[in-house]
Amino acid sequence: MKAFVYRKYGHPKEVLKMEEWPKPTPKGNEVLIKANAWSLNPSEWHRIKASIWMLRLSNGLRAPKDPILGADIAGVVVEVGREVRSFQVGDRVVGRNYLGGLAEYACLEEDKTARIPAEISFEQAAAIPLASITALIALRDKGVIRAGQSVLINGASGGIGTFAVQLARYFGASVTAVCSGKNGQLVRSLGAQEVINYQEEDFTQKGPFDLLVDLIGNRSIQELQGALSPNGRCVMVGYSNFKNLLGFVFKGAWLSKTTGKQFVTMDAQIQTADVELVLRLVQDKKLQVVIDRVYDFEEIPEAFAYLGTRRVKGKIVIQIAS
Ligand SMILES: NC(=O)c1ccc[n+]([C@@H]2O[C@H](COP(=O)([O-])OP(=O)(O)OC[C@H]3O[C@@H](n4cnc5c(N)ncnc54)[C@H](OP(=O)(O)O)[C@@H]3O)[C@@H](O)[C@H]2O)c1
Repeated sequence: MKAFVYRKYGHPKEVLKMEEWPKPTPKGNEVLIKANAWSLNPSEWHRIKASIWMLRLSNGLRAPKDPILGADIAGVVVEVGREVRSFQVGDRVVGRNYLGGLAEYACLEEDKTARIPAEISFEQAAAIPLASITALIALRDKGVIRAGQSVLINGASGGIGTFAVQLARYFGASVTAVCSGKNGQLVRSLGAQEVINYQEEDFTQKGPFDLLVDLIGNRSIQELQGALSPNGRCVMVGYSNFKNLLGFVFKGAWLSKTTGKQFVTMDAQIQTADVELVLRLVQDKKLQVVIDRVYDFEEIPEAFAYLGTRRVKGKIVIQIAS
């Protein structure tokens, strides 16, 4: 099978190479799928670049230990492990593969795999796992969102943000979206009632908001605190610099104890029930999957280069060359 392999850290266009690679064999609790579509996330970008030094502790200090990256992946089951009961050969499925995903065939654990409804394409399904579930967890679990609240999404036009705007509306909140001027129309079309163009206005001077979901992490905790209502919550999902993250973690813990405001970080864990919920919302046309660009499998390094610009509107999807 063809797979994209990286043996050293660096820019994806320089270090990602397409190679022939042995087809994996599913373990007892896994299904093997022939992939039809993949989606990319900033987490894979950080792994290839090793731009966050801490990632080297798990990925390999000098060079990557595992040469094939993970990915969100949608395809057809071609083999099932001995213990698998919920799926059979021919099923259309989606899930997140943490290692070995950027290949024509990949394994998914049974309990981390969801069936794709007939109305949803492989490309739409592949865009769902990490981005939509991160948005869902940030709002529902970490943000404890309630109907009638005012919610601000910083980074509303990206992979997570386009799901977060819609899910916040689905939960009955009123939504203020922060993005650049060119993406205002997009986030309004997804349901945002207010849009703040960060090139012209400072969202931390607005509000107060009951819930602030920060996908960018480019503001200090003092600034974020000022935009929250007295019992507001701020969920930091992404961060732009280590100083802001450290400030958020340490000062956030203190402020959460000493004020009515809560500051929480998160590390999204994808549960199949949540992926199935999002698939149902998409099937029922309550949620749109926003896809910016679709690349062929051979173009994965170019797709990563675009992801690295941090200008993506919604998701980048990879398809089997037509
Ligand atoms: N904690 C977790 O569990 C978890 C899980 C998944 C991802 N993450 C992190 O979450 C972050 C967001 O992920 P993503 O997939 O949504 O990223 P993404 O799709 O790459 O985000 C791109 C978007 O960011 C917007 N953006 C860039 N600079 C901005 C700024 N200064 N203010 C507001 N918006 C800005 C861009 O809009 P404009 O072009 O309009 O500027 C673009 O639409 C990443 O850092 C990722 O690593 C965390």
